[in-house]
Amino acid sequence: MGWVQTRRDHGGLIFIDLRDREGLTQVVFNPTLSPAVHKPAKDLRSEDVIAVQGTVTARPEGTVNARLGTGEIELVATDLEILNSAKTPPFPIEDDVLVAENLRLKYRYLDLRRPGMLANLRRRHQVVRTVRNFLDGQGFIEVETPYLTKSTPEGARDYLVPSRVNPGQFYALPQSPQLFKQILMVAGIERYYQIARCFRDEDLRADRQPEFTQIDLELSFAGRDEILFLMEAMMIEVFRAVKGVRLDTPFPRLSYHEAVERYGTDKPDLRFGLEIHDVSSVAAGSSFQVFQETLNRKGVVKAMVLEGQATLSRKELDELTETAKTLGAKGLAWVKISTEGFESPIVKFLGEPLLRKLSASLSAKAGDLLLFVADQLKIARAVTGGLRLQLADRFKLIPEDPFRFVWVTDFPLLDYDETEQRHVAMHHPFTSPLDEDLPLLETEPRRVRAKAYDLVLNGSEIGGGSIRIHRRDVQSRIFELLGIDPTSAQEKFGFLLDALEYGAPPHGGIAFGLDRLTMILSGAESIRDVIAFPKTQKAICLLSDAPSHVSEAQLKELHIKTDIVK
Ligand code: AMO
Ligand code: AMP
Repeated sequence: MGWVQTRRDHGGLIFIDLRDREGLTQVVFNPTLSPAVHKPAKDLRSEDVIAVQGTVTARPEGTVNARLGTGEIELVATDLEILNSAKTPPFPIEDDVLVAENLRLKYRYLDLRRPGMLANLRRRHQVVRTVRNFLDGQGFIEVETPYLTKSTPEGARDYLVPSRVNPGQFYALPQSPQLFKQILMVAGIERYYQIARCFRDEDLRADRQPEFTQIDLELSFAGRDEILFLMEAMMIEVFRAVKGVRLDTPFPRLSYHEAVERYGTDKPDLRFGLEIHDVSSVAAGSSFQVFQETLNRKGVVKAMVLEGQATLSRKELDELTETAKTLGAKGLAWVKISTEGFESPIVKFLGEPLLRKLSASLSAKAGDLLLFVADQLKIARAVTGGLRLQLADRFKLIPEDPFRFVWVTDFPLLDYDETEQRHVAMHHPFTSPLDEDLPLLETEPRRVRAKAYDLVLNGSEIGGGSIRIHRRDVQSRIFELLGIDPTSAQEKFGFLLDALEYGAPPHGGIAFGLDRLTMILSGAESIRDVIAFPKTQKAICLLSDAPSHVSEAQLKELHIKTDIVK
């Protein structure tokens, strides 16, 4: 039984490629052997659902198809039943046909029939199954936490659900199970996990969905190293089961500071080098006005060495400059190194001796191209970090060997929100500061580092977590720093604060983005390709047409008035 992939008529014989989730099998209808079934077979169309009976036979010599799993046999049909006929599908059920994504999403049930999409769903299942087995083996208990809950502050906007029986009040769909999993630690569960759906009303990108799935876990009495070690073991299992590759552990670790200094981002892609260097101190010795002015305003000069690209034309260099500008740079200075010396519009400002010193400190050699960005630190990092990725793409610096993990650790505890003019938690407000930085909390809060860690794979943040604050007094100090007064702290997460006073064990955890992980394992371009029923950039489900208007009666029951006219 299955679906008709194709029908071919050949000198009286009718060939059907019959498809099910395992692949294709050829069925032959022979007018002389079974005339009764040959006639209806003539009218079969793609995607009709049929049941056939017959004899499996070896294909005649010369007709074996080596590309097909079942290419050595065929089914010679003696009986045919049409279980359901199908309309002509809006696109062929094949992997290599180009179809607009909106059409695929509207007819998702047809899109998912394509072998590549089915393979993605299977792969996702395999990841989840491997994770469950692994965590089960490590003594974790899967516990479900509520979807109708109170908003937990994790940085994004909440999806709200009105309460009919409590007029004017709202639940929030969880942005993550963060508070509940911490409460489970107070409850003595010790090792919790959940494959948890999370909801965030944020602006969508290629690797973000409004609802997505986390592999969420939390442990009591474990320190950072124990958690990282355990998660490396879990990744080993997942990559062995899904890709058949053996990962090297321990994964390298970079502090946040080192990551942003060397790669311009806190999620560095370590599949290639092209590191970023701070050359401010050498640049200070030049008379180039752009460098001087930037350094006078407490800015920095960052440099990159593009190996072997001193041959780029003026036009190509102008294009690179434009790219840098779209990333936020004011300009891009370049210097070509050759055996004869240096070539650049700014050689005269920098001078040969300084350039020799610069290229020595950057280990640059003849044939290389030097690129410079002068700006305030945050912008210079963002520009060089972004440029690094685009250059790698453009000059094909990303090698075949595809999986490079790195832990990024020691994030700053706080970020400064310029618009709100206050400190905000970089991760979430329950993240513990490093013990040695505790004394800085009141004096130099921005220098305080957190016991937070992210797992980055090929430049994508696939997981993040931290050791939590388990003492009420420390938590109160953090709230104070964040400008959350005791009353509103109690109102927002009093239930967690209260719990901390009844013997909360030290604990910590992490959550992985299942969709992002599966996306990388599948080599998918979009997160939507590893989710059965995803939403568009405008958070719409094209299949079911959600969101949609609801009846006046429904709204009235919920005590809701809208000012949008249909
Ligand atoms: P965080 O917010 O870093 O941490 O989320 C954990 C991981 O979830 C994935 N992710 C997403 N995937 C798809 N679409 C989105 N909109 C999206 N947002 C996040 C990322 C990310 O690394 N409670 C903490 C975890 C903890 O501290 O234990 C949390 O939610 O891969
Ligand atoms: P200008 O003096 O503006 O003509 O710039 C001379 C060169 O310096 C050009 O190649 C610019 O792209 C480059 N440049 C300008 N501003 C910066 C900057 N902030 N950082 C790096 N290079 C810059």
